[in-house]
Amino acid sequence: MRMAGRRVLITGASAGLGLACAQRLGRAGARVAICGRNAGRLAAARASIIAAGAPEVLAQQADLADAAAVGRLVPETVAAFGGLDGLVVNSGHIAYGGLEDLEDAEWQAACDLLLMSAVRLSRAAIAPIAAAGGGDIVFLTSATLQQASPHLILSSVFRSGVAALAKSLSHEVAGRGIRVNTVAPGYFDTGRVRARIDAMVDEQGIDRDQAGQAVAGGVPMGRVGAAAELAEVVAFVMEGLAPFLNGASIAVDGGAGRTIF
Ligand SMILES: NC(=O)c1ccc[n+]([C@@H]2O[C@H](COP(=O)([O-])OP(=O)(O)OC[C@H]3O[C@@H](n4cnc5c(N)ncnc54)[C@H](OP(=O)(O)O)[C@@H]3O)[C@@H](O)[C@H]2O)c1
Repeated sequence: MRMAGRRVLITGASAGLGLACAQRLGRAGARVAICGRNAGRLAAARASIIAAGAPEVLAQQADLADAAAVGRLVPETVAAFGGLDGLVVNSGHIAYGGLEDLEDAEWQAACDLLLMSAVRLSRAAIAPIAAAGGGDIVFLTSATLQQASPHLILSSVFRSGVAALAKSLSHEVAGRGIRVNTVAPGYFDTGRVRARIDAMVDEQGIDRDQAGQAVAGGVPMGRVGAAAELAEVVAFVMEGLAPFLNGASIAVDGGAGRTIF
């Protein structure tokens, strides 16, 4: 019952990993604020989080690449819930490509979506979380962060920035009762990974398990993860069962990563 009544803002949470986190924390009794761009998807997500058991859900339409829209998320959550105890920073997808494939506009868009949204949200959340007596900030990044891939240069560059932001912040705000951690997903059956699995089912006439296993070629467990499995880790971090956990990065990738440190 540690999450009961806690007020948590989870961004990019009308689908996929963010939605799974919102459903999990809502089921544990948290009052949950979510955001996304598409109004229909937001409404359906809100209903599903309430169905999961959340006592209250605030759905805010916002583009995380838009500074003004991001600037409204924390104040509107605080106004609706009377405060804030936690923040989960998740976002959407950025362009694939290598250095010579990408224009300045794509770099700027990825910077706004991945890095500046994390900067703006965490900066806005510090004062209300501290005023509530402390709480948690969790950044969702990517397990590929430690393994640069040429076609994922935008993700590598800007998620490295988010990881550095998280680490710096974990020092800066610990004295105000705020713990800052990072959860790094590997392959999960959501978003682009799901689209790839679906395409393989259509194009190759194989079933979803077979397509999932093919996508998960480098995962020793031989499958992609379910969003709920990622949400369990976020819930573990936020429920405060390990209160000395701060400045940590937890990869949830079925063992796919090969780096030792
Ligand atoms: N799935 C994986 O295997 C995996 C692995 C590593 C990292 N990641 C990263 O984790 C994040 C979430 O991935 P996912 O698979 O859960 O994606 P998803 O299923 O496509 O869900 C993304 C969520 O974020 C919202 N969103 C997307 N762009 C947004 C924007 N500009 N402003 C506000 N909300 C936005 C979407 O709603 P709207 O489209 O309506 O805005 C949706 O609710 C992404 O950054 C992805 O790169 C995913």
